[in-house]
Amino acid sequence: MTQHIPPTIQAGKQKIPVFGAAGHTGRFVVAELSRHGWIPVLCGRDIDKLEAVARAHPEAEVRLASVEDPASLDRACSDASLIINCAGPFIDTAAPIIEAALRNGIHYLDVAAEQSVALAAFERFNDAATRAGILIMPSMAFYGGLSDLLATAAMRDWDTADEITIATALDSWHPTHGSRLTGERNPAPRFVISGGRHEVLPDPRPTRTWRFSSRFGTQDMIAFPLSEIVNISRHLKAPEVHAFLNTKPWDDIHDPDTPAPVPADESGKSSQAFLMEAMIRKGDETRHAAAWGRDIYAITAPLLVEAVERILDGRCRLTGTVSAGEAFDAVDFLRALSPQHLSFEIATDRS
Ligand SMILES: NC(=O)c1ccc[n+]([C@@H]2O[C@H](COP(=O)([O-])OP(=O)(O)OC[C@H]3O[C@@H](n4cnc5c(N)ncnc54)[C@H](OP(=O)(O)O)[C@@H]3O)[C@@H](O)[C@H]2O)c1
Repeated sequence: MTQHIPPTIQAGKQKIPVFGAAGHTGRFVVAELSRHGWIPVLCGRDIDKLEAVARAHPEAEVRLASVEDPASLDRACSDASLIINCAGPFIDTAAPIIEAALRNGIHYLDVAAEQSVALAAFERFNDAATRAGILIMPSMAFYGGLSDLLATAAMRDWDTADEITIATALDSWHPTHGSRLTGERNPAPRFVISGGRHEVLPDPRPTRTWRFSSRFGTQDMIAFPLSEIVNISRHLKAPEVHAFLNTKPWDDIHDPDTPAPVPADESGKSSQAFLMEAMIRKGDETRHAAAWGRDIYAITAPLLVEAVERILDGRCRLTGTVSAGEAFDAVDFLRALSPQHLSFEIATDRS
């Protein structure tokens, strides 16, 4: 990662290709880009689905593209400074789209929760991205990006900590088809950071209780490490990095009869409530940051678009593979989303 002014930054609103634009998350992202005055370029492999989305966004362009066809990905990237990938499982889509971004000299962001995908973004593509003068930001989403921003905000002036734990509480989790497919395509054992190293999660997974603020109270939790383990451990120094989810949504996503999310109002958001907390411990002292709001899919859109704005207006001038907490002023970023999209607090130290 180096400090650099990417040559592709230009003033004014631009075209932003969104691969997977017709998916559940992609549609939230397209709507958020439009609201901010960007021109979404709807990319994907199914023209009918893309055109259906375009009918709600007359300003948008449609470009058919497939990960099996690099020339179509190059066309998707043309006239743009940055591409967003919302098409998961990312184990299938991230590498070909990152390669297209590298060929075309444009930045790349995705919303992958898969650990192996985020790891590959750092280990396989960092050097090429640095040479190309572009930024790759994996997992700029609820899982991955928000967790990293909260951990970074909670860490404040500490250079090191003894332990970083992300605890997420959901009142329910109605998974999309893409989420279910991603779980099925990703059977690799999950890992955490323990003793300063990647350690495969034991089977059965560790459980514990977590005392959240009054919104969720005390919850039974199960280890649920996703891409946040990668993103956080790339830039925050702690020998223990863990993530837990409360057991109700865990049961929901393992029940084949749990339905897909449905909009609860005209915003398109479901009624799902979330609370994510980062706890940093150093000796006897702990620091906390928490964010809460509605709908883990919908919140991904403002997280992404805020990142896009900060990258394209020059507030982030890094290149290479970079996580959200490393790229941005975490507190300022969370403040920019509050209170419209989420609420957040940095709790006073408690021991
Ligand atoms: N990290 C997070 O917090 C977070 C948040 C939101 C979403 N996600 C992830 O984002 C992914 C998408 O979720 P979703 O809710 O939007 O699911 P979805 O509604 O099922 O949409 C998935 C989209 O990806 C496209 N797609 C999938 N595989 C593709 C491939 N090989 N080539 C081209 N297009 C492909 C699908 O196109 P077709 O219709 O043509 O199949 C569809 O447009 C999942 O992996 C999910 O876990 C992560």
